[in-house]
Amino acid sequence: MTRAKVAVLISGSGTNMAALLYAAKQPECPYEIVLVASNNPDAEGLTLAHGEGIATFAQSHKGIERVAFDAIMQHQIEKAGATHVALAGYMRILSDAFVQHWDGRMLNIHPSLLPKYTGLHTHQRALDAGDKVAGCSVHLVTPELDAGPVLGQTEVLIRPNDTAETLAERVKIAEHQLYPRILSAYVSRDKDPEWLVAQVRERAMAQPGADEVSSHGMPCFGIIGGKKFAYVSVDHHGDGKTALLVKISGAEEQAMLIDSDEDRYYRPAYFGDGWIGIRLDLGDTDWDHIADWLAKSWRAVAPKKLTKLMDVAGEF
Ligand code: GRF
Repeated sequence: MTRAKVAVLISGSGTNMAALLYAAKQPECPYEIVLVASNNPDAEGLTLAHGEGIATFAQSHKGIERVAFDAIMQHQIEKAGATHVALAGYMRILSDAFVQHWDGRMLNIHPSLLPKYTGLHTHQRALDAGDKVAGCSVHLVTPELDAGPVLGQTEVLIRPNDTAETLAERVKIAEHQLYPRILSAYVSRDKDPEWLVAQVRERAMAQPGADEVSSHGMPCFGIIGGKKFAYVSVDHHGDGKTALLVKISGAEEQAMLIDSDEDRYYRPAYFGDGWIGIRLDLGDTDWDHIADWLAKSWRAVAPKKLTKLMDVAGEF
């Protein structure tokens, strides 16, 4: 198993980082921590990480411009070979360039049920609002603060006598459970059949008149009352693979595709020359390309009245 390589950025106690680090000691954990970095050389978490044999890096941000400081961090993260970044109590606003570089590969943990209470003092704000429930969220980092897509949340009930401190303490316990779990699921999702099928579904159902049925146990997409244009093969006869099957022009195109990349393309058993199998679980799937394949396959089976409508729409 190749594990995702995660750099964790902290500014303080680093208890979430510790939770990520200890979870990574389980042999089946799909990620490993390759670096713990901080803008605060006194961050307690650095000592813990160092003691556990993890590479650490600390550099105060004081007197350094934001973009230059982020470039220093970026250099260290790259040097450590990280594929993902996990923010864990990192108290710095990040430059757009840094956020863009890690687009889709940087997560954060936030102590509220987002979209409620972005920013600071989340627990006091929940108490002041008379909320019955607080909690924590793990989300993808996008340029707007605490506004990226939420990947997972845990609710924590508020007790009548809670203060911001007592509530924070319980939310932290929830955070420590949530973060490793969500990070694990996130880094392994491009091999997770359920996630892969959902990606295909979203793009297949965007075709005009598309419908989903189950065919021989496979998710299958066709035109309502018409022909099928895509199947997803999941662990067919226990082969452990997830692949998309779409229509092609025939034997020649099939041979050409397989020749161009024989790890990705294959001749799907029982489907004949008019179809191609495209592996979705190789970890580097280009989803725009898959959308193009689906559109092309749809066009191959769509009745004229539908393709004509599309041609007209395409002219404007
Ligand atoms: C956590 O409450 C986290 O949700 C927030 O900052 C705090 C970090 O705590 N982003 P720790 O350093 O992980 O103990």
